Amino acid sequence: MAKGNYDNAAPFYDRLSRLVFGKALVNSQVYLLRHIPPNATVLIVGGGTGYILEEITKQHPDGLKITYVEISAKMMALSQRRNFGHNEVNFINKPIQEARLSQAFDVVITPFLLDNFTDKNLPAIFTLIHQALKIGGVWLYTDFRLTGKLWQNLMLKSMLLFFKILCGVESWRLPNVAGLFARHKYSIIDDKGFYGNFIISRAYQK
Ligand SMILES: C[S@@+](CC[C@H](N)C(=O)[O-])C[C@H]1O[C@@H](n2cnc3c(N)ncnc32)[C@H](O)[C@@H]1O
Repeated sequence: MAKGNYDNAAPFYDRLSRLVFGKALVNSQVYLLRHIPPNATVLIVGGGTGYILEEITKQHPDGLKITYVEISAKMMALSQRRNFGHNEVNFINKPIQEARLSQAFDVVITPFLLDNFTDKNLPAIFTLIHQALKIGGVWLYTDFRLTGKLWQNLMLKSMLLFFKILCGVESWRLPNVAGLFARHKYSIIDDKGFYGNFIISRAYQK
């Protein structure tokens, strides 16, 4: 199985994450959805079981053109059963590195995706997504971050070890994502911490 493919976690992923984080993972992503304009083209990479589609649909029952890229076939099957209203959704069951994206997007969403990669491998993936976003478009970024607290470090290492064994996740530590956004001259237009600031939700404008 490809590195970082969450097939083995798909059957229990949402239940486990709710058990550990309550609604924080969902709330941190929903917080950023206000940046999706009506009738936008949206790229979602690594959407997992697809609950984000239902959350988007609560705010935009129609008019969106969504491209949903997910490497895991099991996660994809769960996502395809979600209610996405009258929005158009193009499901691509491939790693983002192999997805042929036929258009540029107004919004890209990477929910808890980028922390799966190492500093060595992340820049290539970041560049692919960056190139898919229109100039002036918005990147909705949600991930874990460390603010110097011991409990955060312990939780992060436990999660990375768990998903390394189960899903082949390659990273041992958080990559420097903020540095990549800065290097590509993105502006932070929204920023909020969740779960004792262990989770960061940021809207970046290109
Ligand atoms: C940590 S999970 C997050 C799932 C979901 N976004 C959530 O918040 O519950 C990361 C997801 O990204 C997917 N993924 C990992 N590498 C990927 C890649 N290269 N291209 C597309 N999806 C990928 C995994 O299969 C998994 O579903």
